[in-house]
Amino acid sequence: MKLLHNIRQLASCRAEGRQGDIHTITDAALVWDGETIQWVGALRDLPEMYRAAERVDAGGALVIPGLIDCHTHLAFGGWRADEFEQRLAGRTYLEIAQAGGGIASTVRQTRAVSEDALVERARAFLHEIQALGVTTIECKSGYGLDRETELKLLRVYRRLAVLEPTRIVSTFLGAHVVPPEFRDRREQYVELLTHELIPEIAREGLASCCDAFVETSAFTVDEARRILRAGQAAGLAAKLHADQLSAGGGAELAAELGALSADHLECVSDAGIEALARRGVVAVSLPIATLYLRQTPMPARRLIDAGVAVAVATDFNPGSAPSFHLPFALTLACTLQRMSPAEALKGATIIAARALGLERVTGSLEAGKAADFALIDAPDVNHWLYHVRANACVRTAVGGRWMS
Ligand code: NIG
Ligand code: FE
Repeated sequence: MKLLHNIRQLASCRAEGRQGDIHTITDAALVWDGETIQWVGALRDLPEMYRAAERVDAGGALVIPGLIDCHTHLAFGGWRADEFEQRLAGRTYLEIAQAGGGIASTVRQTRAVSEDALVERARAFLHEIQALGVTTIECKSGYGLDRETELKLLRVYRRLAVLEPTRIVSTFLGAHVVPPEFRDRREQYVELLTHELIPEIAREGLASCCDAFVETSAFTVDEARRILRAGQAAGLAAKLHADQLSAGGGAELAAELGALSADHLECVSDAGIEALARRGVVAVSLPIATLYLRQTPMPARRLIDAGVAVAVATDFNPGSAPSFHLPFALTLACTLQRMSPAEALKGATIIAARALGLERVTGSLEAGKAADFALIDAPDVNHWLYHVRANACVRTAVGGRWMS
């Protein structure tokens, strides 16, 4: 039994209340036993039975639930810095994609890299990500777009889950774009996904979610519906890249399917917002992608006011979001989307857990949940997200074990 004390402020981030209710406690204490939290509260209220627990000094830190990055494309080959420069010079994301760049360029580079090399590279990213206070991460395939490479990417995540303490949720994103080999026979690609890859991936336990990019340059609503329904039938929860570059009915489809989340949503329609609220689908904002593509931000305030829970994630990928810095994404959620720091924190903890179906396991500091937490060198949440630093995280624990 361990007792973390000398905590200046603890934000428990319990689900109840509004998005901005992070339920802070000053001069707090946290007790855990093995992997599980036993008690959280003000030190002066510590029950007698925990007084003998081994004491761990938090050094006056801010304590938050371990951060959850609920949308990344962690494993990929190469980078695309050349496209960054081209976009700044005025070329659009779609123009670059139509010329064979964009996602297709990363697909070529990813197919050429061995599984072992992908593991080593993603593992190095993961070490930096862990140091930021992230204890759970969602990782998508989607840069293979053929059987061999999609399975290779999902095996990379399975190996990382064994090698590293971080909780990893794998998502099959075979429906990222139609690969060049299938350009003139896209129906056959949809059938490859629905008839072969999804059943195989589910059978092998290689993913727990299935994602599809609904966009004029990617998949139609009807195609995505078939793919995600096939995923659900095989036991994979649905997630969507929705309404990123245009309003294409992605949010409405997410609601129709009862998806775990609809992600991006920079161009979401009023009907889409209403549908998400009605069905209780989490909206995942990806403000790093918004910034890099210089888009109008997701209307987070309108979503929150309509009753939609808004998560915040990095979208780490080599094109639209080449950063895995989740605290920076939270600051951007504040500055671009006018979320409060507290709303942003809840978006990367309990709401992000919901976007992964893990809300009963992690995402808040409550008795019975996993002892996943981070110690932050800041007096409070507002100060932490206002003062952008390389890294304000001092220590992180996953399942009660210190990672850094
Ligand atoms: O989430 N929107 C589609 N997919 C990624 C971008 C991937 C890329 O550009 O390589 C995203 O932003
Ligand atoms: Fe993405």
